[in-house]
Amino acid sequence: MIPSVLPTYNRAPLEFVKGEGAWLTEADGRRFLDLGAGIAVNALGHAHPALVQALTDQAKNLWHVSNLYQIPQQQALADKLVEHTFADTVFFTNSGTEACELAVKMARKHFHDKGQPEKVEIITFDGSFHGRSSAGIAAAGSEKMTKGFGPLLPGFVHLTFGDLDGVTNAISDATAAILIEPVQGEGGIRPVPDAELKALRRICDENDLLLILDEVQCGVGRTGKLFAHEWAGITPDIMMVAKGIGGGFPLGAVLATEEAASGMTAGTHGSTYGGNPLGCAVGCTVIDHVADPNFLAEVNRKAGLLRQKLEGLVADHPEIFEEVRGAGLMLGIKCKATNIDVVNAGYDNQVITVPAADNVIRLLPPLTLTEDDIAEALTRLDKAASQVETSLATA
Ligand SMILES: Cc1ncc(COP(=O)(O)O)c(C=O)c1O
Repeated sequence: MIPSVLPTYNRAPLEFVKGEGAWLTEADGRRFLDLGAGIAVNALGHAHPALVQALTDQAKNLWHVSNLYQIPQQQALADKLVEHTFADTVFFTNSGTEACELAVKMARKHFHDKGQPEKVEIITFDGSFHGRSSAGIAAAGSEKMTKGFGPLLPGFVHLTFGDLDGVTNAISDATAAILIEPVQGEGGIRPVPDAELKALRRICDENDLLLILDEVQCGVGRTGKLFAHEWAGITPDIMMVAKGIGGGFPLGAVLATEEAASGMTAGTHGSTYGGNPLGCAVGCTVIDHVADPNFLAEVNRKAGLLRQKLEGLVADHPEIFEEVRGAGLMLGIKCKATNIDVVNAGYDNQVITVPAADNVIRLLPPLTLTEDDIAEALTRLDKAASQVETSLATA
């Protein structure tokens, strides 16, 4: 009999009832160090007092009004994002994949309204992940995500990750945009080198294409800048954001330049919940914290510390681990042992990591992780690695 919850997830037998900072607690009191943060969602950790305050204050006043009316919290968050980024304008969604839907629509409409309706194709890369909506799976294109789901949304050209020559060769009169994650998340924490992002920006400029960045996972302070592309000194035309911006409340956004967004006039797009008062009240508080240069400096300091210790962990367990990679607090450890075995051994030792493609375990802790948490993380990951070593030796 089918379970009452559609069985699309492989869930671990863990059931958390409370969260605080970087810690999750089960009903029996067992505490787990959360290095996954809901897959890069709980940017300020669990139950951050400022977020609890923002949400409850808003909840006491007004939960929801339609986008038929003015929403001051939405205006405030849009203004903050415009102030802190390349963007001139913002549309709010509830998730990353909805942001992908709009990014695709916006790019196509831009060229349509400029009298170039043939420009509809979007270049994407293998290993990418843009969500589970029809545009999201078509954009990523992998068989795992698309098989069995019937005719895919057309207009995506899939290239090998890192293949710049391939990009140049793939551009035609039909090309509208290049869509890329500055750091691939699901694909196994694969950062795009700064030089490559710069080259993609140049290619877009030279060929009248829009550069769309998917910062759903790598954005909102995760890499130590407010947005990951800032490290490369470039700006996109369109950017998808979600996850961390809501700190745990479902919230996403598409940020764009005025020029890229020029086709999106009244009536061309909408969302019932996108940008609602609750989400935006929380989002404002997240951005107020994360955009603070002192906060980002701390992210970078702690990221350096964690990475240095993880390099030591990898050196101590050469049979289990291969290398550390990533940026800021978006780190991946490529495993020699099976990554799922390492994640499961982590559960046994009450530390949470997240598997990714390419046999990687991901560490995406709350950006508010403390030095004590880092020390604890290393103790627990070390035990987990030793456990996998023992089981390999006795297998
Ligand atoms: C880079 C990237 N884009 C898009 C998405 C989709 O976001 P959501 O699950 O909120 O729809 C994700 C989710 O993991 C992601 O990592």
